Amino acid sequence: MGIMSQLSIIHLLWAAMVFCQYDDYDFEDEYDEEPDHQHPYYFNPNTQAEVPRFPFPVECARECFCPPAFPLSMYCDHRKLKTIPNIPRHVQQLYLQNNDIEAVPAGPFTNVTFLREINLSYNKIKFHMIDHGVFAKLSNLVQLHLQHNELEEFPFPLPSSLERLLLGFNKISRLSGNALEGLPNITMLDLCNNFLDDSVLKGKPFSNMKNLMQLNLCNNKLQTMPPDLPSSLMYLSLENNSISYIPENYFKRLPKIIALRMSHNNLQNIPRNTFNLPNLLELNLGHNKLKQVFYIPRSLQHLYIEDNDIEIINVTLMCPSIDPMNTNQLTYIRVDQNKLTIPISTYAFFCFPHIRTIYYGEQNVNVNKSTQLRIPVFRRFLSPEEYDEAEDDHETHDHETEEDREADHYFHPYFQ
Ligand SMILES: *[C@@H]1O[C@H](CO)[C@@H](O)[C@H](O)[C@H]1NC(C)=O
Ligand SMILES: *[C@@H]1O[C@H](CO)[C@@H](O)[C@H](O)[C@H]1NC(C)=O
Ligand SMILES: *[C@@H]1O[C@H](CO)[C@@H](O)[C@H](O)[C@H]1NC(C)=O
Ligand SMILES: *[C@@H]1O[C@H](CO)[C@@H](O)[C@H](O)[C@H]1NC(C)=O
Ligand SMILES: *[C@@H]1O[C@H](CO)[C@@H](O)[C@H](O)[C@H]1NC(C)=O
Ligand SMILES: *[C@@H]1O[C@H](CO)[C@@H](O)[C@H](O)[C@H]1NC(C)=O
Repeated sequence: MGIMSQLSIIHLLWAAMVFCQYDDYDFEDEYDEEPDHQHPYYFNPNTQAEVPRFPFPVECARECFCPPAFPLSMYCDHRKLKTIPNIPRHVQQLYLQNNDIEAVPAGPFTNVTFLREINLSYNKIKFHMIDHGVFAKLSNLVQLHLQHNELEEFPFPLPSSLERLLLGFNKISRLSGNALEGLPNITMLDLCNNFLDDSVLKGKPFSNMKNLMQLNLCNNKLQTMPPDLPSSLMYLSLENNSISYIPENYFKRLPKIIALRMSHNNLQNIPRNTFNLPNLLELNLGHNKLKQVFYIPRSLQHLYIEDNDIEIINVTLMCPSIDPMNTNQLTYIRVDQNKLTIPISTYAFFCFPHIRTIYYGEQNVNVNKSTQLRIPVFRRFLSPEEYDEAEDDHETHDHETEEDREADHYFHPYFQ
């Protein structure tokens, strides 16, 4: 087994572990019954060290619920609250999502010192309704959820302890000069579905985030690649912007990139060696205007280039040389909705000996009607069971393939 696939398994396991820790269980049930499952996060010895001793039962805001089994958490979600209740001193996890909260005043946070995680997603919070510095003084805060609010501006200042910041689905179009400075521990920043354009990123806001692993900027208004990303970056999501080119050597400074998503942009020509990235596993460039393929790094496993203007897949460009001692890892290519009239040359199977699936689907060869190659899906090495399963998938899910769904875990907010 190659180092890369071992790495990816470790990543998967890690993702699964982290995901389970925060697994979004159904609070409705929780309220009626005795919670019976253990929540590993709360028994982490590192967190326990900071836990104050308190006499039971612990304090809880009248509007909220504090489960005896998780005494450091306060659940105030889904309650039509218009204001934030007073937060008892000992609380570490605060759940306020799905309410009608518009403001974040300092008052309720007066006594708080141990807060590690706040979920304020799905509220109506506006930037100017956040008391200046209210978050910044929470010196143990590691995770802040503010997605699905009405923020027009990046909610600075924030505490330097912060590791995960979720700001998707807001209206952020402004980023004050030093808003993102002093956040050295940020590993995950989600800014998808906002109104960010190139001018906002001119000040190179991400350059000092030396631990940033995942940056999501999908569904914004970018026309160029974000400048000066930190070299720690592993997952970059830029889907659905209006980016038309990638500067030569752009990724030279980002050697750790594992997954790159740039579907739904305006890419036309890509410098041939752009993706010479030693750790890249997933590359998604679907729904662009590419005419030509490009160099495929050895590590790459999944390639998505559907809905482009590719007439011929030149395998020599993808694979200029074959090294039998160090074979290419590519297993999956999705090329439907291009302008292919013939399948990929069989030379590809020498270059990419691990290929299992090539999804040709429909091709847009003529202006007004789509056509199919003789074999819309090419498969190798599948067991009869896998083959049947894959066929069923294509029938029921049309274009979404099993690999599409499998790839989703890379960008899970808790994945790092
Ligand atoms: C925060 O709230 C959102 C919206 O309900 C939910 O999807 C998410 O799982 C919550 N996350 C945490 C860590 O509580
Ligand atoms: C903070 O603690 C003091 C003393 O325990 C208490 O009187 C006050 O109400 C608390 N404030 C908040 C906002 O919880
Ligand atoms: C940043 O993370 C490191 C390593 O986990 C930790 O030692 C340090 O205290 C953190 N910085 C802040 C400001 O919390
Ligand atoms: C792309 O973003 C626009 C808004 O900027 C949105 O309306 C559209 O649904 C998005 N498209 C996709 C494919 O996500
Ligand atoms: C494929 O690309 C190589 C390298 O640029 C070039 O020499 C060759 O002519 C191309 N082949 C086709 C069929 O376009
Ligand atoms: C495609 O459709 C348009 C409008 O429906 C028509 O004017 C055009 O002639 C068609 N082109 C071809 C190649 O059939």
